[in-house]
Amino acid sequence: MERKPLVAANWKMNKTVPESVDFVQEFLQLFAVPPEVEVVLAPPFTSLAPVAKALEGSPVGLAAQNMHWEEAGAYTGEISPVQLRDLGCRYVLLGHSERRHYFAEGDGEISQKVSAALREGLSPILCVGETLGEREYGKTLEVIERQIGSGTQEADLEDGTEMVLAYEPVWAIGTGKTARPEEAQEVHRFMRGMVASLFGGAVSAGMRVIYGGSVSPENTAEIMAMEDVDGVLVGGASLVPESFARIIKSAAGNPLDTDDDQGGQVGL
Ligand code: PGA
Repeated sequence: MERKPLVAANWKMNKTVPESVDFVQEFLQLFAVPPEVEVVLAPPFTSLAPVAKALEGSPVGLAAQNMHWEEAGAYTGEISPVQLRDLGCRYVLLGHSERRHYFAEGDGEISQKVSAALREGLSPILCVGETLGEREYGKTLEVIERQIGSGTQEADLEDGTEMVLAYEPVWAIGTGKTARPEEAQEVHRFMRGMVASLFGGAVSAGMRVIYGGSVSPENTAEIMAMEDVDGVLVGGASLVPESFARIIKSAAGNPLDTDDDQGGQVGL
């Protein structure tokens, strides 16, 4: 089954509203987003509405970085899936390691969020990944198995259900260290196999499994060359229009222009 590569930008807690809108305007002027890839921006909540407006008429989609699982209610400081859809979000990142580690989000909570997103018509991008210690103790696949198993336990996934899995080794996030392409491939293949055993071959064949962790214009092509890598989730390198554009071009299979390496304009 054909899986359209997904390139998603996770801005985390960065950019004010004017900075977010400036990014979108500059980015859209740089090049025409290639139709071979799907591009999504996940700005902070405060920038969702203005970014949605700035993206109007472009093929770039909108994602949120987190959400609550209830539709509405007495949950001070939280944002619901209904509110996100209302702003034009199509995707929502769930279970990002920064949420798991800094905000103590547990597997049970993440599972409730995944099923709520699916119920409300948002596509979850469920993030999983092992810490350095877990990798060193040979526990990578065990951790991934637990995170996917529990993250999807209340989800009703059928063929065609839009859900994305993101493999983000914690030790590679924001560190400049990336998993070797073969290391990523091994985990991605395992993840696809797990989805096949939980939800069947058709769901597994159509599900995109993307990689995140220090993705850059320089390493995108080699990661994307792996059979089970269907896109990238980009943090730091997505904050600058030129570098994010180069990542997209690379994910679309266009070699990097020499001009780009000299800081020139991104070619068409
Ligand atoms: P990074 O972040 O690209 O800055 O490593 C990726 C992520 O946390 O999604």
